[in-house]
Amino acid sequence: MNIILIGYMGVGKTSLGKRLANRLEMEFVDTDQLIETREGCSIETIFANKGESYFRKLEQEVVNELRLKDNLLISTGGGMPCFNNLMGVLNDMGLTIYLKRSAKELANRLIKSKKKRPLVVNKNYNELVTFIDEMLIKRAPYYEAAQIVADRTMQTVTDLELQINDFKNK
Ligand code: S3P
Repeated sequence: MNIILIGYMGVGKTSLGKRLANRLEMEFVDTDQLIETREGCSIETIFANKGESYFRKLEQEVVNELRLKDNLLISTGGGMPCFNNLMGVLNDMGLTIYLKRSAKELANRLIKSKKKRPLVVNKNYNELVTFIDEMLIKRAPYYEAAQIVADRTMQTVTDLELQINDFKNK
């Protein structure tokens, strides 16, 4: 079985994904990193030189490859489930987990983050909160289609691990 972490930028998919992969003895894959390695440049450069729709095509290609594999813990890019009907595909590939935080919390985390994210770069805290609020309204229907919705302010890694094991034993 694969486990697929989805959720907004800055929610902590990659760091949690690495920890969970270790604990559950699964292979960790980060779709943004995979795309950067393949293209030989950063996501920021891909957006700047080739545009967002080119990036979304790359995401689709990556999903089509990963869906053939097993025992992966996949951390996805924040927009992946919301384009090209990929949420349905992700749900078919394994156990999808939506990691959820409030817009304010996400803005705080994104302001501190060193990772360059083209969609939110150059925004101050207040602009970020408004932007995230608006985007979450559009993205929520996709994210909420996940098989597990995990509130990251409330749930620890151990809580999540228990939920995953419950799901596996069903
Ligand atoms: C994006 C999220 C980013 C990255 C790209 C677009 C988005 O991934 O894929 O900048 O549309 O939300 P993270 O969620 O890992 O930051």
